[in-house]
Amino acid sequence: MRIEAVAGDITTQSVDAIVNAANSSLLGGGGVDGAIHRAAGPALLAECEQLRATTHRDGLPVGHAVATGAGNLPARWVIHTVGPNRHAGQTDPALLASAFSASLAVASGLGATSVAFPAISGGVYGWAMGEVAEIAVATVRDADARGVETVRFVLFGADALAEFRARLA
Ligand code: APR
Repeated sequence: MRIEAVAGDITTQSVDAIVNAANSSLLGGGGVDGAIHRAAGPALLAECEQLRATTHRDGLPVGHAVATGAGNLPARWVIHTVGPNRHAGQTDPALLASAFSASLAVASGLGATSVAFPAISGGVYGWAMGEVAEIAVATVRDADARGVETVRFVLFGADALAEFRARLA
């Protein structure tokens, strides 16, 4: 598996699956969640509302992942996951690792060969970028994501990119 880190906007990445740093409601928000919903268009929210009406009536628990289509995005799927929120006392690194590993497991199950991740929990949810990078790279490296050939971390800003590149070096 090839693992790379780039600076950019995850909504422009031409990969099979784009991972969304969602919240448990699955009904959109700010940050990368807002950007993905804006770029994907209303079809994405409609699919998420369908999940809430069927398989995910109570929303998506922290560390879990679920896929939908990708609407107008240049990807086939969006994999929604919920990272731990440090401001809500969710400080267990295993929860953040689970958000990455569960997303990879979903990607593998779909037959995705390329996956783009944002820095889950590194924004609104208040985790330090260095810790996100540490956990993200270690988790992806250890994952047995059958069929996934490329994982791309797509970061906002030079600092975030430097943190991930330092772990990938
Ligand atoms: N492409 C790539 N990265 C982005 C983009 C984008 N278009 N927009 C934001 N980011 C970066 C942020 O700068 C941050 O480094 O993604 C990282 C994750 O930040 P958040 O989007 O705030 O995600 P998170 O910290 O997991 O918080 C999730 O925020 O947006 C709400 O609905 C979301 O409630 C949920 C919470």
